[in-house]
Amino acid sequence: MIKNITVCGAGTMGRGIAQVSAQFGYNVRLFDLKQEQLDNAMNAIRRNLDKGVARGKTTVEEQERCLANLRVYTSLGEACTDCDLFIEAVPEQLALKHKILCEVEGYVSKECILGTNTSSLSIADVAQPLSHPERLLGTHFFNPVHIMKLLELVYHEGTAQSVIESIQSYGGTIQKECILVRNAPGFATSRLGVALGMEAIRMLEEGVASAEDIDKAMVLGYRHPIGPLKLTDLVGLDVRMHIGTYLSQALNNDAFSPPELMKQMVEEGKLGKKTGIGFYDYSDS
Ligand SMILES: NC(=O)c1ccc[n+]([C@@H]2O[C@H](COP(=O)([O-])OP(=O)(O)OC[C@H]3O[C@@H](n4cnc5c(N)ncnc54)[C@H](O)[C@@H]3O)[C@@H](O)[C@H]2O)c1
Repeated sequence: MIKNITVCGAGTMGRGIAQVSAQFGYNVRLFDLKQEQLDNAMNAIRRNLDKGVARGKTTVEEQERCLANLRVYTSLGEACTDCDLFIEAVPEQLALKHKILCEVEGYVSKECILGTNTSSLSIADVAQPLSHPERLLGTHFFNPVHIMKLLELVYHEGTAQSVIESIQSYGGTIQKECILVRNAPGFATSRLGVALGMEAIRMLEEGVASAEDIDKAMVLGYRHPIGPLKLTDLVGLDVRMHIGTYLSQALNNDAFSPPELMKQMVEEGKLGKKTGIGFYDYSDS
């Protein structure tokens, strides 16, 4: 049974995973290399909770419980004390994820489950150097974690059924909807999302319609909450281009190849919301 959760990496995703887990009663240890990063994470979590309370989405009891259940650490060994579930949310580099997960295997019991929040790496590749690869699976959360309902669980050939079931049960307790996906390039979410995004950019490039109208086609015609071009702006054109290049090679499918327009915009530093300009202008926001 999962009681104690260690989250590694207190960035965008790690802090969100720590927040929701603590909010729903788990004892959470959040680890990062620097105290400053942990302080930033705790401040962001407090702000989220305050907003939640102000909007009536979170109760004061939940807020207090969340903060009482959270501890921060700069020592990985200490953060792994009595750990039942370890989730890594460090940058998307295979070698870094290997280093951390192998070190963690030395701190935790063999029943401890290991989750990786990778959005694109093969789960089998992440599991490859582990002594107990059967305990690892992909726990792919979405940003912002406290709002997005989806938890994409990705198993590799050797993932134990009991591990999948434990994580499905954990997902339910933190009020996420779990989907179960076999380890395949782009899983379910990135493969579909990036295909749509790349096609929308090609349509813009060909002058089929304006960015606003391409987005409206999907929002009003298909009830998507956000259009594919605006979503690409939010994720970052550079990030999506990287995933698209990887998927076009891994799936041998040109539909994922970044269009010329995207390459040009990335070269010009038009990366989307984070740089103030992408398919839309954010200089005022
Ligand atoms: N940002 C997103 O929208 C998103 C969505 C889904 C999945 N992901 C995936 O989640 C993972 C993390 O992404 P992010 O956006 O939170 O990154 P981020 O850059 O915001 O955070 C990464 C954190 O890891 C820390 N870190 C770096 N090296 C470390 C180490 N050796 N030990 C402990 N901490 C270390 C950094 O200090 C930082 O706090 C990546 O695999 C990414 O692909 C991101």
